[in-house]
Amino acid sequence: MRVLVVGGGGREHAIAKALVRASKPPELYAVMGNPNPGIRRAAKEALVHDVTDVPTVVAWAKARGIDLAVVGPEAPLAAGIVDALEAEGTPCVGPDREAARLETSKEFTRDLMREHRIPGLVDYWAFDRLEDFREWLNDADVEFVIKPVGLTGGKGVRVWGDHFRSKGEAEAYATEVLDRRIGGQARFLVEEKVVGEEFSLQALCDGSRLLPTPLAQDHKRAYEDDEGPNTGGMGSYSDADHLLPFLTRSDYDAALATMRATVDAMAKRGTPFKGVLYGGFMATRDGVRLLEYNVRFADPESMNVLPILEDDFLGLCLKLVEGNLLVTARFARKATVCKYVVPAGYGTKPKAGVPIVLDEAGISKAGAELFYANVEETDHRIVTTASRALAVVGIADSVPEAEAVCEAGLRHVKGDVYVRHDIGTADAVRRKVERMRTLRGV
Ligand code: GLY
Repeated sequence: MRVLVVGGGGREHAIAKALVRASKPPELYAVMGNPNPGIRRAAKEALVHDVTDVPTVVAWAKARGIDLAVVGPEAPLAAGIVDALEAEGTPCVGPDREAARLETSKEFTRDLMREHRIPGLVDYWAFDRLEDFREWLNDADVEFVIKPVGLTGGKGVRVWGDHFRSKGEAEAYATEVLDRRIGGQARFLVEEKVVGEEFSLQALCDGSRLLPTPLAQDHKRAYEDDEGPNTGGMGSYSDADHLLPFLTRSDYDAALATMRATVDAMAKRGTPFKGVLYGGFMATRDGVRLLEYNVRFADPESMNVLPILEDDFLGLCLKLVEGNLLVTARFARKATVCKYVVPAGYGTKPKAGVPIVLDEAGISKAGAELFYANVEETDHRIVTTASRALAVVGIADSVPEAEAVCEAGLRHVKGDVYVRHDIGTADAVRRKVERMRTLRGV
């Protein structure tokens, strides 16, 4: 069987590794915007090319007789790659462009939730005129969040108290979104700010059934103790019980209920969702709220869940595209900690072209797993780009043990790079648990 992986990040390396672990490993093909060395090695053939150039990707896939495609990032989904591949007879793990609106339009998602009374909705307003926002702002007495309606790579959301502290600063950002069409449109949402701990629930979906994977928590801020600018995600962890230390079983059930209701609503409107649905949730004092949907695996959280999947990932993908997905899969009862290695200055002024020296055998001997992301290979040297370079994952019986394995692996990565060493440490996790306890008043 010939399987195409679209995308060249750490997430897609995790997808590629999971696919080739199958009892009957497929022949792997890859199209990626950057030359990911890990995917390149796993693939029979790889094309380094813009993954949003749909006609080129489809023609390349067709010429190679691809039987199944797994699409990693949101940009090609937004560009309609699934519609085009499926029109040529290639089934895809990924939604078509209409179903991808759950990620590509935050307003679509909020309207869907309101219309179908889906739990987890927050108060929201949409604006495309500064005057209307000013008027709203005059009367506003709640803390709020500004979100461009379209895709911003996780970097467009601004939160009262974190990124702006006055109505004047809010207006300045709103002006920027409208003038620069941040997210591709001169339109933004204002949402009630919710306070708590964020968590990610990723699930495979065949249009009607959801197969949830273990929960994970990402760390979006660039610097330790959750300071600094928002990034694509600096690292993440998951726990051996597949929940998170600061969550209850009923938080998990609430998040899954929101996702199930969303999938039902999408089916009812005649635009069934097929692919991977990833809900970014906030556990608050008053229950679980949906912050946003993504229509793909999370990056880095895919590197928490895919390595501990004990069932055959390729088999699950095939069931998904047949519309015959099972609702559970076996995941090892293990905790995981994933830390991204990023170029020095990442988040503000990343240093590209800087060599990274890494000892793959040493990482593996330390018991950790390596996932390549955005690096260049020149003269047999690996150098940084402006994006996240590679990730190291530790897997063990508890989060602190997995963190120690991850750090042991990281000792074999050298260069002018930066890592958030606090992710998954016992101290950091304890602080989150205490914060949540205080919020809930227990
Ligand atoms: N975990 C952040 C993202 O995948 O968008």
